Amino acid sequence: MIRLAILASGSGSNAEKIMEHFQHSSKAQVALVASNKADAFVLERAKKFGVSTFTFTRKEMEAGELLSKLQEEKIDWVILAGFLLKIPDQLIRSFPERMVNIHPALLPNYGGKGMYGSFVHEAVKAAGDTETGITIHLVNEHYDEGKIVFQASTAVHPEDTADDIAQKVHALEHRYFPEVIDSLL
Ligand code: GRF
Repeated sequence: MIRLAILASGSGSNAEKIMEHFQHSSKAQVALVASNKADAFVLERAKKFGVSTFTFTRKEMEAGELLSKLQEEKIDWVILAGFLLKIPDQLIRSFPERMVNIHPALLPNYGGKGMYGSFVHEAVKAAGDTETGITIHLVNEHYDEGKIVFQASTAVHPEDTADDIAQKVHALEHRYFPEVIDSLL
């Protein structure tokens, strides 16, 4: 069984879709959900699926405690699903080609520092773009610059608000992220 860990800082709707997808899989299981926020809703979602949880502070992560936990749990793949802290290089190097992130835009557009959550969708709206989408990529030491493994796009209409854009992007994420992870394993 391939053991997956999901790192998330917030609601965890993507994490939920991933847990659902692998719930009855004979190939892989979500073995751990880890968060830097003790009150993140993703932890509740994990409990519902009987998945173990782990919380940590930025300092603890930087001191190597998250890496130790992942090793202790014999994690094979790390999935970032709305994880907002910069991952220490040592942790990234411990999962070469086995760490995946989802970004709510069509990279290389709207990537990099400060481009997360609603900031991305506001920027797409302000630029007047006619499409946006999702990017699933491997994580390397350079923010949002790892190898792109999958993209899907959706139309943006002039009357769409940033919230409307966010909803369309979320729908794409929910539809594709679990199956793209599955095909990568
Ligand atoms: C997603 O839009 C993802 O692309 C981004 O963070 C958001 C997480 O949403 N990195 P949720 O917590 O899975 O609902």
